Amino acid sequence: MASGGFLRKAYWGLAGAGLIYALAIGALTYPVLQRNATYAHNVNPSYWQNLSNVEQFGFLHHQVQPFTVTTPDNVTLFAWHILPTHLYMQHEEALKAQGDFGQKPYAQAAETVGLRLLLEDPKATVVVSFHGNAAHLASSHRPATYQQFLGTSSSERPVHVIAFDYRGFGWSTGSPTEDGVIQDSVSLLSALTGHASTSSDVSVSPSSLKASQIILVGQSLGTFISSALYHEWAITLGRAPFRALVLFASFTSLTNLLDSYSIKGLTPPLLSPLLAYPKIQKYFLSKLVDKWDTNLRLVELVSNPGIELDLTMIHARDDWEIPWNEGRKSWERVLEAATSSAGVEIEFSRDRDLEIWASVDGRKKLRWQRVSHGGHNRIPTSEHARLAIMRLLEQ
Ligand SMILES: *[C@@H]1O[C@H](CO)[C@@H](O)[C@H](O)[C@H]1NC(C)=O
Ligand SMILES: *[C@@H]1O[C@H](CO)[C@@H](O)[C@H](O)[C@H]1NC(C)=O
Repeated sequence: MASGGFLRKAYWGLAGAGLIYALAIGALTYPVLQRNATYAHNVNPSYWQNLSNVEQFGFLHHQVQPFTVTTPDNVTLFAWHILPTHLYMQHEEALKAQGDFGQKPYAQAAETVGLRLLLEDPKATVVVSFHGNAAHLASSHRPATYQQFLGTSSSERPVHVIAFDYRGFGWSTGSPTEDGVIQDSVSLLSALTGHASTSSDVSVSPSSLKASQIILVGQSLGTFISSALYHEWAITLGRAPFRALVLFASFTSLTNLLDSYSIKGLTPPLLSPLLAYPKIQKYFLSKLVDKWDTNLRLVELVSNPGIELDLTMIHARDDWEIPWNEGRKSWERVLEAATSSAGVEIEFSRDRDLEIWASVDGRKKLRWQRVSHGGHNRIPTSEHARLAIMRLLEQ
């Protein structure tokens, strides 16, 4: 009897779990709920954290200049410019003497001591960071990521960092959609390079950056956004390409990812219970409002012979949120598209942990690297991230 009772309980328990799962998946077919789940922007500690008080995130007094950029659809984006420590040391007095260090519109921020050290130095490089989903630019591992990039800086070759929040994240207004977050990136990069954000006009002011001084680095969701920005910038707007694109824990598309994505590595892949019900799975996937199709963009970029692209993809073998073979699939498609043109294999390791390819004309450089450790969020805080940036600076 006892075992009968147990079985009955187990049965209803399982049926209950199934029902909750069905309700949850069903609810996700509503765009608002779906975007809340995929962008997770409402997991937002900036409700109680002050993002302008940067010392709490490990930075020095007046090392970070908070600024805002307004998009053509009137969203206000919140961003940080972070000065490398050796420049901070050199200019400490002038930096500290600036009384008002609060957030400012970009045009005003561009006049501050810190940003002028970037904008007026043609030898400077800036890493623009595209973070993953949830929370804000200063959450959890993110400041450590910026420190890794800043660690590549030297007086001969200064490296600055710009980090920002997409619409709906942190202190940025609005709420995220695929087109919206791409527009945000275009607006930020347009401000930095002195372009109007919607056209290919160059109304370059004396102190703006060249795209060739800018390295884009994305992690997780940020790999889609930075790739989509590159595509929009170089193909749609026909602008000069960026110095490089570095992707940590990338994936082919959200559609494919949902088959393998696991929440914090703790749950089984989200849609795996639906494997036995392909029709329901197909229905759910057809309801995806944002597709995050990174592959489509990367393949178009590598297939376009005129466009320069220096692409690095790094994935950790112990990434339990986006399994490394998701990144690998993306790499394989990119490489396949690339190798239909003339190229050279520079290095292909037997275990396929490292593959490097370049087009004969030098316009495309592609690199895949699988590393043993780093998980999903820690990987851009690892020395691999520093090395990846240093390699790009050496070229
Ligand atoms: C946030 O921090 C900045 C810098 O420390 C300070 O100027 C500002 O007053 C703070 N804002 C709030 C709302 O506490
Ligand atoms: C833009 O948004 C701000 C609030 O973020 C609002 O005060 C302003 O009126 C808006 N401007 C336009 C033209 O809609």
